Amino acid sequence: MSDQRGKEGKQGLTRRQFLNYALGGTGAFMAATIAAPLVPFAIDPLTRSSGGNFFDTGIAEADVKSDFPLMAEFKVHRKDGWVEENVKVRAWLIKDEAGQVLAMSPICTHLGCQVAGSVDASGNPEPSKDGEWWFHCPCHGGRFTVHGINDPAKPPQRPLDVYEVKIEGGKVMLGNLKQRKV
Ligand code: FES
Repeated sequence: MSDQRGKEGKQGLTRRQFLNYALGGTGAFMAATIAAPLVPFAIDPLTRSSGGNFFDTGIAEADVKSDFPLMAEFKVHRKDGWVEENVKVRAWLIKDEAGQVLAMSPICTHLGCQVAGSVDASGNPEPSKDGEWWFHCPCHGGRFTVHGINDPAKPPQRPLDVYEVKIEGGKVMLGNLKQRKV
């Protein structure tokens, strides 16, 4: 009889262990399955690409002007979970007062519409005069200087976000997007 109980106890323990392992393993697998595709959304679109942290804009540093911004448009290969695609990225490039390249996001910091730059009658970018608002947002009248500083009297309450910039082989490379301190 005590032998029988001993056997059952041993069997019961084994079953419990098996259930613990099985349930624990299934839970961990399900958590990993749900969390894995979400990880890339926690970081910037540029760093979501499979090609490293900085991306070539195709624009030479020497071509970046200091009186009005140039639009850089390039594709980044991105892999999010099961989705793999080439994403179009845009940035406005200008040289700041110190001669460094400043790369601004075209996304308005109010509600996310795309800002556009000032152009002359022929559609060419207009050099900015001192203190002039150069970027305009079509949604709620937001406006920014050539360096992306917002007009505080309008809805956007912070400057345009900027990309990390690195110059490699004379070309402008962009990294993470970050907010500027107001
Ligand atoms: S989204 Fe640009 S002003 Fe509102």
